[in-house]
Amino acid sequence: MIVEQLSLVDFRNYAVADVALVAGPNVFVGRNGQGKTNLAEAIAFFATLGSHRVSNDAPMVRDGADAAIVRARLRHGERTVLLEAQVNRQGTNKARVNGAQVKPSELPRYAQVVLFAPEDLQIVRGDPSSRRRFADQLLVQRAPRLAGVLADYDRVLKQRSALLKSARARGIRGDSLSTLDVWDDKLVSLGSELIRARMSLAADLQGPLSAAYAAIAGADHRPELEWALSISGGDPEEDVTSASGAPGTRSVEEQFREALAAKRASELERGLTLVGPHRDDLVLRVRGLPVKGYASHGESWSVALSLRLASAELLRAESRLGDPVLILDDVFAELDADRRARLASLAGDYEQVVVTAAVDADVPSALRARVVRVEAGRIIEETDA
Ligand SMILES: Nc1ncnc2c1ncn2[C@@H]1O[C@H](COP(=O)(O)OP(=O)(O)OP(=O)(O)O)[C@@H](O)[C@H]1O
Ligand SMILES: [Mg+2]
Repeated sequence: MIVEQLSLVDFRNYAVADVALVAGPNVFVGRNGQGKTNLAEAIAFFATLGSHRVSNDAPMVRDGADAAIVRARLRHGERTVLLEAQVNRQGTNKARVNGAQVKPSELPRYAQVVLFAPEDLQIVRGDPSSRRRFADQLLVQRAPRLAGVLADYDRVLKQRSALLKSARARGIRGDSLSTLDVWDDKLVSLGSELIRARMSLAADLQGPLSAAYAAIAGADHRPELEWALSISGGDPEEDVTSASGAPGTRSVEEQFREALAAKRASELERGLTLVGPHRDDLVLRVRGLPVKGYASHGESWSVALSLRLASAELLRAESRLGDPVLILDDVFAELDADRRARLASLAGDYEQVVVTAAVDADVPSALRARVVRVEAGRIIEETDA
């Protein structure tokens, strides 16, 4: 797919802005703090229904306004579709497809976007929650249906944990808690579905990840990704070294139940659900060592970028929407000349690429067919560069 037209009202530092985009590469150039990343964020919103920089929506609404509007005309082959999102400072957001109101959760069915931004270093360096968020976002892009499973799991988790807390407060211990069993069933059934989906995601990403890493780094440092599952014994949330891999021959459900039984006493003690996908970690390795804590800055950067490129490859291979729009925010300044050239040839292969840079000379000339200047929340067209 490609974005043909993007219009913003009261989004970040844009009061009103309109920009036409072309198939192939589009470069947004401007000095720091002018609004380049804001444009990238607006496009990606349709695919992820959120910001890659903040967990709540309010910062996306222009200071002083109550709501931001983002509109995009997308083209999938011969067909175009008009998406609109209204991001409210308070209350729920609204969405339209071709003028008709829909649930915001419908938008990602029309828009696939993969955004790489400097913030993605957090995926490899941050807490397990950053990696779970990365994986779950991709899961939903791959199969929008899973958004519902994730939301249901979250709700069950909250209710089960609330029950554990109140049991703790009332001093109930051990197996005397029969209502917990009901929640265990739901937790295990939803959680197992997520665990399986995440494991096949990791398996399917491995090939594209190796290819992308080799293409970026120009060397094979054997990047690997593997889920450390809390149902397999250890606690990836609290202890990286306890990371244990795939469940053995027993089913995910069986293992989940056993782990819950084993942890029940400490769950009641702590008032927390201690096993399940919300405690798992996607362990990343290069040269056989965990990226987090071991890899160099350049290696970490290459892994983060490769994860996004691999995501784009996966979506492109599976999606009926064609290629996802690939957005590379501020990436070229970080790379040496060889890596720039390799990334440019990889990215140039997508139906549409959006690149942002503070200095246009940092962007390989092959990608500079169309350059748009961004200045203080205004878009200034430049037809050739
Ligand atoms: N809700 C908002 N209302 C008004 N202005 C905002 C809002 N959110 C962010 N901004 C402004 O937008 C600007 C940042 O824009 P953006 O992150 O797109 O910059 P950039 O061009 O990508 O810069 P850099 O090259 O440093 O990455 C900042 O000046 C910030 O103050
Ligand atoms: Mg930026």
